[in-house]
Amino acid sequence: MFILMYVSLAFGSNASALVKDIGPEQFPINEHYFGLVNFGNTCYCNSVLQTQQKKKENLLTCLADLFHSITTQKKKVGVIPPKKFISRYEKKMVNLFDNYMQQDAHEFLNYLLNTVADILQEEKKQEKHHGKLKSGVSSNKAEEKKTEPTWVHDIFQGTLTNETRCLNCETVSSKDEDFLDLSVDVEQNTSITHCLRDFSNTETLCSEYKYYLFYFIFFLYRMRVKKLPMILALHLKRFKYMEQLHRYTKLSYRVVFPLELRLFNTSSDAINLDRMYDLVAVVVHCGSGPNRGHYITIVKSHGFWLLFDDDIVEKIDPQALEEFYGLTSDISKNSESGYILFYQSRE
Ligand SMILES: *[C@@H]1O[C@H](CO)[C@@H](O)[C@H](O)[C@H]1NC(C)=O
Ligand SMILES: *[C@@H]1O[C@H](CO)[C@@H](O)[C@H](O)[C@H]1NC(C)=O
Ligand SMILES: *[C@@H]1O[C@H](CO)[C@@H](O)[C@H](O)[C@H]1NC(C)=O
Repeated sequence: MFILMYVSLAFGSNASALVKDIGPEQFPINEHYFGLVNFGNTCYCNSVLQTQQKKKENLLTCLADLFHSITTQKKKVGVIPPKKFISRYEKKMVNLFDNYMQQDAHEFLNYLLNTVADILQEEKKQEKHHGKLKSGVSSNKAEEKKTEPTWVHDIFQGTLTNETRCLNCETVSSKDEDFLDLSVDVEQNTSITHCLRDFSNTETLCSEYKYYLFYFIFFLYRMRVKKLPMILALHLKRFKYMEQLHRYTKLSYRVVFPLELRLFNTSSDAINLDRMYDLVAVVVHCGSGPNRGHYITIVKSHGFWLLFDDDIVEKIDPQALEEFYGLTSDISKNSESGYILFYQSRE
């Protein structure tokens, strides 16, 4: 269901080198490793597309067409220009962004997943509506409004529980919130496991002035994972707003991401505790800040690792992943460091 797409066009030399690196006999049947041509600062887009899997044209049909044109290529490796998809995407973004500014891969991932989910939900609603009209059953407004889960939700959606503890009255309440990816804070010389533990253990203090009671009520909020998704997308918050500088700066901290990840202690009523995950893809940010840099992607396919850098696709050793953990020195901000991690559940 979740098809990892490896998309960037090789102008001959690189393509044949990849076939040679993998070995013509070992080359997976039905796989196509294609680079995506970068149309000026679209690598934030390519880097996320390189990790993913007809009617009126929309972002989803353009994406499907792109994947279709890759999977039906005669050549096993190559390069393809994601022109239609990019122009469709940019048409939407024209009011929001300027193409010639660096975009954020995490924002793009979020936008893509939410937009695809919205398109699918709208289609389901239309189908249901037409089905009802045909069968003559009067439609129920409340039922029509209900949103149904789509394959985007089946793959990426997990649930967080927001536990609220009132310090004045010692009552605890909780509220569930769905997520498609988790954004975690990063610290120097740590690991993603540590960041996740901090994510669950961080309590935020908030207060509310109850004027009719004439005093403040203090609350502690804590977010814990309740339901784990099939694909866990972890966004490392490497861009931090510096008040003194009035701009975002990059935290190049070394954060180790293991090939295997087990999530401990999620919420006490968690549904699928202790799931085992395998790393399947990493979006890497190269550079010193959100507006200065480049994105590349590393994807696992049939047991080997491939690096996609726009139109270049290379096979790399698994040990080379260590080069993307980040830096132990706090002085240098310029790094090639893991930015979005994709872990796939074993079950
Ligand atoms: C948790 O819930 C409270 C109350 O609804 C809200 O104020 C707070 O922002 C929530 N925390 C997060 C991280 O969503
Ligand atoms: C997980 O939770 C259990 C009980 O809720 C606790 O005893 C245990 O120490 C926790 N483990 C970790 C690794 O936090
Ligand atoms: C991180 O680790 C490196 C090498 O192990 C060390 O030199 C550095 O001081 C550490 N940084 C922090 C902030 O602990």
